[in-house]
Amino acid sequence: MTFFAPATSGLRGTLAAPPDKSISHRAALLAAMTSEPVQVTGYLNAEDTHSTLRAVQALAAIVEIRDDDILFRGPGLRAAAQPTGPIDVGNAGTLLRLLPGWLAGQAGGVWILDGDESIRRRPVDRIAEPLAQMGARLDAREGRFTPLTIAGSRLTGTSYELPVASAQIKSCILFAGLLASGATRIREPGPSRDHTERMLVQAGARVERDGDVLTVHPQDELEVDRIDVPGDPSSVAFHAAAAMLVPGSRLVLDGVAVNWTRVGFFRIAQRMGAVVVGPLEEPQDGIPAGEPVAELDIADSALGGTVVEAHEVPLAIDELPLVALLGCFAEGETLVRGAGELRLKETDRIAMVVDGLRGLGASIEATEDGFAVTGIGGLRGGVMAAHGDHRLAMLGAVAGLASREGVEVVGMEAAAVSYPGFTADLERLLSPA
Ligand code: S3P
Repeated sequence: MTFFAPATSGLRGTLAAPPDKSISHRAALLAAMTSEPVQVTGYLNAEDTHSTLRAVQALAAIVEIRDDDILFRGPGLRAAAQPTGPIDVGNAGTLLRLLPGWLAGQAGGVWILDGDESIRRRPVDRIAEPLAQMGARLDAREGRFTPLTIAGSRLTGTSYELPVASAQIKSCILFAGLLASGATRIREPGPSRDHTERMLVQAGARVERDGDVLTVHPQDELEVDRIDVPGDPSSVAFHAAAAMLVPGSRLVLDGVAVNWTRVGFFRIAQRMGAVVVGPLEEPQDGIPAGEPVAELDIADSALGGTVVEAHEVPLAIDELPLVALLGCFAEGETLVRGAGELRLKETDRIAMVVDGLRGLGASIEATEDGFAVTGIGGLRGGVMAAHGDHRLAMLGAVAGLASREGVEVVGMEAAAVSYPGFTADLERLLSPA
């Protein structure tokens, strides 16, 4: 149990954003799909992304961890090895959903993916369905859970309309499309994070966007020498939220990926009245090559409630628990709608956020696809359980700093899934040298 006492002074100083989790997973996978060496700088050193390193090693990538970077020597696009046992994805939903896209098109191999208790509750039918439509042979427990068996086969390009805006499903199909015969088209109901597309373009793949339709073409090989992983906007969102709530705060976030598909939380917070200064990328047509990186300045200020609509949800999906927290401190009501996907994350994040914050004194109701918060000018504090979910652990910590009595977080160690240095960074910003 870790106690987060009410902050007696603001958060001050500069935080170098820890490397982005989504981009790190993709960098390791893409490097493994490349047969020439690939240098990856800024790879995230956390539990989830270690799972991806172990996975690509099991598939015959050589991973050399050096002082300033990681050098990958991958087996290449069509030569993943077949390990003797299952591949353990740990807690990493992104690895679970992306890796099958690469493996499904490699005829002759059979792979089994499995993970921790939380992973075993997370659906894979969302990727199994489009892959099966391309000719993949997959077998999941009860048709939708791990262990997931993938028997590589010849794939054919298809047209698939995503039932939900999900970067994980989209990325899985994009990877499969590289190995399929003919073009693969994906229609998205709305934008979701686009790191896979950007990175594939960087690696010479033919990926095009026309409105809400993405097309990927088969590829003989990928070519990229180096991938730089920028800082994670989802990780620094926690310190940013703390700075928005704790009086006297002035925080500089350095090296943040400000890709427009990732900074929805900062836009929502701005709308609520938070001070966020920095160049958030504007929505782009087509597929930009590379990731924009910038510095963001955050300061505390009075907040008002807001309505987060369905189209904004994928652009702030992992930060929506923080919107609920800001809502407790804001004047009026804060509503999040169209966020049913939150129920399928590491935990049911609608139920867990509502339970957790209510236990600290919040006035918050769950809806089928989101939550409604009534601002009550603050939070009392109390005990909050992380239930093994890294983002709930960090939410509890930030709630504690901003509360009147502090918060005991049960299971704070879960933060190591995405951000092992979370508590140390917070402590440093609360007592700058
Ligand atoms: C991720 C996509 C999101 C997000 C997850 C990471 C990714 O999931 O919640 O934490 O790296 O592609 P969905 O795309 O399934 O919504």
